[in-house]
Amino acid sequence: MAALFSLRKVLGVAVGRGVRGVSQLAELPEMHQMLRQTCRDFADRELAPIAGRLDREHTFPAKQVLELGALGVMAVEVPEHLGGAGLDYLAYSLAVEELSRGCASTGVIVSVNNSLYLGPVLKFGTEEQKEKWITPFTTGEKVGCFALSEPGNGSDAGAASTTARQEGEEWVLNGTKAWITNCWDASAAVVFATTDKSLKHKGISAFLVPMPHPGLSLGKKEDKLGIRASSTANLIMEDCRVPLGNLLGQRGMGFKIAMQTLDSGRIGIASQALGIAQAALDCAADYAHKRTAFGAPIAKMQAIQFKLADMAVALESARLLTWKSALLRDAKKPFSKEAAMAKLAASEAATFISHQAIQVLGGMGYVTDMPAERHYRDARITEIYEGTSEIQRLVIANLLLKEYQP
Ligand code: CAA
Repeated sequence: MAALFSLRKVLGVAVGRGVRGVSQLAELPEMHQMLRQTCRDFADRELAPIAGRLDREHTFPAKQVLELGALGVMAVEVPEHLGGAGLDYLAYSLAVEELSRGCASTGVIVSVNNSLYLGPVLKFGTEEQKEKWITPFTTGEKVGCFALSEPGNGSDAGAASTTARQEGEEWVLNGTKAWITNCWDASAAVVFATTDKSLKHKGISAFLVPMPHPGLSLGKKEDKLGIRASSTANLIMEDCRVPLGNLLGQRGMGFKIAMQTLDSGRIGIASQALGIAQAALDCAADYAHKRTAFGAPIAKMQAIQFKLADMAVALESARLLTWKSALLRDAKKPFSKEAAMAKLAASEAATFISHQAIQVLGGMGYVTDMPAERHYRDARITEIYEGTSEIQRLVIANLLLKEYQP
């Protein structure tokens, strides 16, 4: 770690100055450039060389997560007095992109801890909750998870059937949460449960649950198409009791907490998708120079050049949307529509680019000797979790139509 900058030191000064507008996006502020380079170096040195093995063996990168904690990347936005790096969301987006370029599983582990776990505690927690539930999760020794989806409802997040009933000084939680990223490696979860089903989404509340905990068990580790070094499983609660003080925010506020958390989370997943897409483009362009066919490098052929051009355009446009959504969030302006646009554009770009990369590589793209097939598998989830592409379109259309309301 000696060669790495500490994010706290590298970016501390830049945050105060902030980034004022999209016009500045052509070039990142110097400090953000340094952060990007630091994360890129880390990914090249520590992640890319082992990403294939982690994927094959389904291994959580515990050592690398600890190093990322030391760097400040596990809690980018958390203020320094709580143990975080105290930086902005553009910095977070850059970090997730660069790490995902080396290893998409590490990218989602970092993203879930930052935006889905620490994010809602930071925004809605009391001072006491912040100390208890944030600080230990900033170092990489502990990671958190976010339990919203259920076996019976994913996109329809308001239909939660997990219940929470008050008994004396405790909440008693019952139900099963599904597809929980980081589940097997987590030390706490933000769990959404309903205290009154008749109130529909207004009956949902958010709870802080330590892990492991009596009454809480984990389902089998899902055997996934991609991001296989991150764990995904069901979180099963059977009379799982937590103190009344573990309610996060107000009773009945859970759905709004979930929606606001996902608005930010989508910037993280957009950034993960950018990293995967960049890695696929890097791989294809490099191969095009080295591979010879019909007497010349295939990079000389227009069929290949057109593919690379389309890949680069999709990537750059998605990146600008992602940076714009992060900048809006940093400026405390509405960003739900832009975050959904960024997630939609970046995840579809990642799917398209990783598909095209395999086409450029031909047979070599289809075997595990090259990383292209892993990029293709990793890209697919970015169109599904934290809201499918269809849900993003719905969010965008709803917000867009409101702007045109007569
Ligand atoms: N911010 C704040 N409030 C919001 C909001 C937002 N972004 N979006 C909606 N709301 C509020 C509305 O204003 C409304 O409030 P009132 O009741 O006070 O009027 C309320 O929430 C209900 O809104 P809708 O009627 O629009 O809600 P809906 O039931 O139609 O659902 C939805 C909207 C967009 C489809 C939403 O359910 C959704 O985003 N679904 C996808 C869920 C999702 O992304 N799941 C991913 C799981 S997490 C994950 O993947 C984890 C992982 O491990 C990586």
